Amino acid sequence: MIELEAITKIYTKGFLRQQKTTAVNNVSLSIKKGGSLGLVGESGSGKTTLGRIALRLIEPTIGTVRFDGVNLMALSRSALRQIRPRMQIVFQDPDTSLDPRMTVRECIAEPLKIWNLVEPQDREDRVLELFDLVGLQPDLIGRFPFEISGGQKQRVALARVLALSPEFIVADEPTAALDLSVQAQVLSLIKTIQKKTNLTLLFISHDLQIIEQMCDTVAVMHKGAIVEQGTPRGILRDPKDPYTQKLIDAAYESEAWLGK
Ligand SMILES: Nc1ncnc2c1ncn2[C@@H]1O[C@H](COP(=O)(O)OP(=O)(O)OP(=O)(O)O)[C@@H](O)[C@H]1O
Ligand SMILES: [Mg+2]
Repeated sequence: MIELEAITKIYTKGFLRQQKTTAVNNVSLSIKKGGSLGLVGESGSGKTTLGRIALRLIEPTIGTVRFDGVNLMALSRSALRQIRPRMQIVFQDPDTSLDPRMTVRECIAEPLKIWNLVEPQDREDRVLELFDLVGLQPDLIGRFPFEISGGQKQRVALARVLALSPEFIVADEPTAALDLSVQAQVLSLIKTIQKKTNLTLLFISHDLQIIEQMCDTVAVMHKGAIVEQGTPRGILRDPKDPYTQKLIDAAYESEAWLGK
């Protein structure tokens, strides 16, 4: 479904673009249809950059991205626009994707309108259907984003994305901004929807335990490269790369510190 081939991204800035940061360094990976891959690594390891390249929201410096067999790098602007609804992103902060001046109803109806996905008279029903899918009470529908909780906002953001019936989603730390108890609910919701709609998922997190819960494969990123790939359970039990071991140790330490 998604294939990244030898992706490198070098950010340049400054005088004559002389300051270079290699954010992603020769990464190849693929996710089968309906599969879920977790990308884990410390801050600055290149996860967000790679996730955005997978959607061609950022251009790689070198490398190819294929979506459902189509080479995204070779698509014209209009062909890319046509394919856009099929691949979507869920951000860490739901406020990024919700317009504060729109009611929750309007936020979810907007993509239906823009992409002309349902007849205008059927829009309200579709919005309610999406509301139900993400486990929101219908009485919230007339509220503005500032009138609902963080967890509810993330559900609305999710409904907005699901309105497009995407086949591939990149979720970039989608619950990192939420309280722990709400985090668990939203994660299980994403998992349920993923199974139900056979979504292909690229799930970004710095928490290996969340990835174990969400994904069937995990890739560990360090300084722009994938240092290890396998099943989450296998990697947690028997990490091969010293960096992965460090990541696991750090997680246990912070948990002990949190008194878990
Ligand atoms: N637009 C940009 N211009 C220049 N450098 C950038 C840009 N975006 C990211 N970088 C750099 O690229 C590297 C990878 O960043 P990226 O955001 O992909 O990491 P990340 O793994 O998502 O980190 P985090 O866990 O903090 O979200 C970092 O060194 C970062 O400073
Ligand atoms: Mg990031």
